[in-house]
Amino acid sequence: MLTQAPKGTRDMLPQQAYLWQGLEAKMRALAALWGYREIRTPVFEHTELFLRGVGDTTDIVNKEMYTFTDKGDRSITLKPEGTAGAVRAFIESRLYAEPLPCKVYYLAAPIFRYENPQAGRLREHHQFGMECFGGKSPAVEAELINLLMTLLHEVGLKNLVVHINSIGCKECRPKYHEALRAYLGGRIDEMCEDCRSRFDRNPLRILDCKKDKCKEIVKGAPSILDCLCDDCKAHFAQLQELLAAQGIPFEVDPTIVRGLDYYTRTVFEVIMQTGREGLALCGGGRYDNLIEQLGGPDMPAAGFGLGLERILLELKNQGLEPPAPSVTDVYVANIGDERRTDAFKLTQALRAQGVKADSDLCSRSLKAQFKYADKLGTRLIVMVGGDEFERGNVKVRDLQTREEQEIALADAPAQIVKMLV
Ligand code: HAM
Repeated sequence: MLTQAPKGTRDMLPQQAYLWQGLEAKMRALAALWGYREIRTPVFEHTELFLRGVGDTTDIVNKEMYTFTDKGDRSITLKPEGTAGAVRAFIESRLYAEPLPCKVYYLAAPIFRYENPQAGRLREHHQFGMECFGGKSPAVEAELINLLMTLLHEVGLKNLVVHINSIGCKECRPKYHEALRAYLGGRIDEMCEDCRSRFDRNPLRILDCKKDKCKEIVKGAPSILDCLCDDCKAHFAQLQELLAAQGIPFEVDPTIVRGLDYYTRTVFEVIMQTGREGLALCGGGRYDNLIEQLGGPDMPAAGFGLGLERILLELKNQGLEPPAPSVTDVYVANIGDERRTDAFKLTQALRAQGVKADSDLCSRSLKAQFKYADKLGTRLIVMVGGDEFERGNVKVRDLQTREEQEIALADAPAQIVKMLV
């Protein structure tokens, strides 16, 4: 128990760190190029924020939140998603008074959901999220989707299609809810318990149920796209035009309804092709009422969240993981204890030249140092000591070619830099 991570959590081990860092570097670079600046918000927030923001008919709020009472008797919840916290910070710091739109991203933000763990579904996962506050044009969603698809393409994932839908607004969604209730009404008793409770409160969510019986019942249900008001229709049509003009493959998919209550109009998901049912790489959409609902001004917004673990899983499944970089390029071995300090000094001099260098920290024999350097996949071993050292030199062995040469100690860092090119 003591040495077992809690269920549904994963360590990022040193062997995998480069994969995370590579992904994060690409995300940061793209975000900067597209004018999004980083925002970091606390890992926990007042529970009320999620009850009001994410919605009390969602699975996330109903079943999955890590909520506790702190020592000051406040109800606190570990972030079950990133948008509500970013909106809270936007309102609290009055970022809406700055030039708009305000474009922000969060990177590797830990998200906590008490879910049934399985491949790609964790209790702690990490998201790269982007939010654009203050833009009402469908160009906002088009930009977000373009950035998202550029990123997925850059990390190597291909043939991904974004599924888009519109779930309408305050005006037209209630009409759709009525149409849906009229269609499903006769079969309420056959639905799962969750869907029975969704029927009155938020029937749209029934379309997202993964239970076979409910899936069969909703087949043939009226499509939200037939119930959109003129403004929502025009918004959705313009988004499709913009995506087509940017050459972004997309599919209109009326089954995408999303598991959070704040969405209005556009919703989208990128679903893993090899994936298990329901596992999305990314989800997002427009949420024009959330800022006001949380106490800010009436201001439109849109964004998405991308699961880092799911991208890494997909890269692995598709055999697209980049090779691991070397840990150390040069190992400086000391011949005998009396040369330990000299080896240490040369190692520092190499590092100062930007060379990944290492030396013995375990008082190993020369043979054991060689063995260790070999295991690290080191390219060069520099031997400090022996007769060469008396002559003011060190011996360098190339572990790939097995060639050895003697070079002047004084000149060693510069020489070694050249050998590594
Ligand atoms: P979400 O669809 O709940 O949306 O999550 C976004 C992404 O996080 C998913 O597509 C998936 O890649 C990843 N994810 C979700 N749950 C898990 C889990 N249990 N284990 C591993 N990965 C997971 C949101 O959270 C919204 N805040 C996105 C958004 C931002 N909408 C507008 N702005």
